[in-house]
Amino acid sequence: MTHRTIPGDEPLRVVLAGAGSMGRAWLSTIVAAPDVELVAVADIDPDTARSATAAAGWPDLPVGADAVALAATTGAHAVVDATVPEAHHPVTTAALFAGLAVLGEKPVAATLAQALSLAAAAEVTGELFMVSQSRRWNPQLFALRAMAADLGALGTLTTEFFRAPRFGGFREEMAHPLLVDMAIHPFDSARFVLGAEPVAAYCEAYNPSWSWYDGAAAATAVFEMEGGIRYVYTGSWCSPGAETSWNGVWRVSGEKGSARWDGDTGPVLDADVLPAERSPSPYSGIAGALQVFAEALRTGSTPMGEVHENVLSLAMVEAAVRSAESGRRVLIDDVLDQAHEQALREETHADVRAALAGWTSVRSALTA
Ligand SMILES: NC(=O)c1ccc[n+]([C@@H]2O[C@H](COP(=O)([O-])OP(=O)(O)OC[C@H]3O[C@@H](n4cnc5c(N)ncnc54)[C@H](O)[C@@H]3O)[C@@H](O)[C@H]2O)c1
Repeated sequence: MTHRTIPGDEPLRVVLAGAGSMGRAWLSTIVAAPDVELVAVADIDPDTARSATAAAGWPDLPVGADAVALAATTGAHAVVDATVPEAHHPVTTAALFAGLAVLGEKPVAATLAQALSLAAAAEVTGELFMVSQSRRWNPQLFALRAMAADLGALGTLTTEFFRAPRFGGFREEMAHPLLVDMAIHPFDSARFVLGAEPVAAYCEAYNPSWSWYDGAAAATAVFEMEGGIRYVYTGSWCSPGAETSWNGVWRVSGEKGSARWDGDTGPVLDADVLPAERSPSPYSGIAGALQVFAEALRTGSTPMGEVHENVLSLAMVEAAVRSAESGRRVLIDDVLDQAHEQALREETHADVRAALAGWTSVRSALTA
């Protein structure tokens, strides 16, 4: 997809929307980024925005409740959307239609239907919408992906994720905290490592007897990926002792050998092959995502995480939840088609609705 670019000789001017815990991480990242200028901070609660700018040492930065209004008065090019998931659709839609590019936090939107609407809104407006899936921007994950490419045909990819955080708040009240809030990261990384898209999901989600969560704090999911590869995720958010890293523990099993990654240190190749020479990824974390976003806005290139490319990670989450609730294997294309029908029913922008209606296949609209 082509998108509008900005002149290469001026800084990228950014409004940050959402000044909560992730917003504060973005605030310091934007301020530190070369050739990027933070021009304002929006939060639905302007006092939250003011205290975040003051804490970061920028007490005079303009703040307000509306990111688009602040962008208009400050001449911004783009919005970084670090609001709560339910606000991603309205905040990002308003920004795209105001002629602003958007770099959004994961998940792309609160529902898959809203995610499809945002992909269509990017098409209609010609603005770049990229999703920052922060754990994908990990040089060690890039190295694991390179090793996977050396293993010949691939059979199985596994992730084990076992931790025992006590967050309090909304995560302890969600029906599927592990799948919806956390597992989207490894699901997204699995697509990246395998270079293969999901076909079907079977998942069991459950809550161990000692869990301090209301919903399913543990889950095991098996995804069929393109080419018949299986991706197996098993995790728990109430598993004290022998905790894995926050990235989880990974194994790729292929025709010529295996690669393992503990999620914290460099991956290890165990295969009778001569690994191809590859330079390490220069991008890391949300700073890497911001750098790639800025480059894409200057060059017109399509960045990793462009909305169309990101949506299938959320589709994996919705398919896993649906499988866990129904006890059935779920086809990703069925999940996409139902989300498309819902998006057409809910869409209020006539031209976004027309763009959605023009998609003959959701998968091909996302992967073209
Ligand atoms: N990549 C990661 O590792 C990672 C980690 C944590 C959170 N996140 C994501 O970051 C996002 C924010 O999470 P958080 O933990 O910072 O939440 P938070 O609740 O701490 O902060 C969200 C902020 O958004 C504000 N907000 C809500 N609606 C708004 C609107 N319409 N306009 C402007 N501001 C609005 C809230 O007032 C709040 O200050 C979520 O999408 C979450 O999934 C990502």
